Amino acid sequence: MRRKIAAGNWKMNGLTTAVEEAKAIADHPNGNVTTLLCPPATLLAQIAQLSLATGGQDCHTADKGAHTGDISAAQLADAGAAYTLTGHSERRTDHGEDDATINAKSAAAYAANLTAIICIGETLDVREAGDTLTLIDTQLAGSVPDTATATNTVIAYEPVWAIGTGKVPTTDQIAEVHAHIRTHLAARFTDGADFSILYGGSVKASNAAEIFAIPDVDGALVGGASLKADDFTPIIDSLAQS
Ligand code: 13P
Repeated sequence: MRRKIAAGNWKMNGLTTAVEEAKAIADHPNGNVTTLLCPPATLLAQIAQLSLATGGQDCHTADKGAHTGDISAAQLADAGAAYTLTGHSERRTDHGEDDATINAKSAAAYAANLTAIICIGETLDVREAGDTLTLIDTQLAGSVPDTATATNTVIAYEPVWAIGTGKVPTTDQIAEVHAHIRTHLAARFTDGADFSILYGGSVKASNAAEIFAIPDVDGALVGGASLKADDFTPIIDSLAQS
């Protein structure tokens, strides 16, 4: 049974005043949907007290040690998180993370009993060169540990060119990549049919229903439109109704 997940990635946004938005999101009825917020680490323990799922935005490969400024999966779990993102394109770009690093971070998440939401997706150059599906295979093969299961792993397809740009792929483009991810997972894992696959990139209330109607789209990873309850709760509603 695939989980339907409406995930908000707050990125480096949100001061303590933003906890009010998280409260309103947590109090919103979510039916059969898992509502998940990945707030900045400074707010995680506070938001984890609310009636919704929480996650980190990244974790270190080690469970503790001399790594100034980093956060471990064990620390995320201790703060109340059940999930963590790994391999977000902003980590890949800003911090030079490669597939091997993301694989190790995802394995560290499993060791702390977190579900890893492993992010993959192509740049515009890759899409225009016609290499999207090849890159998706490379990223899945490299970033997803052999110990992944439908319980400890969620895949998020986020085309880099759609993040924060207002540009959304066509439904055919999303359907093609999600079907490809499903085929890859089904070939590699015995429970590959059960992994949830999220779409991310400029999801908002006005396009959510159309995106959630696409086969093999089990939810969304939302950036900008997850910061305010008024923007995010209609997306939760759309997923619940899909
Ligand atoms: P936007 O929804 O702001 O495009 O961000 C998507 C994203 O990167 C979520 O992880």
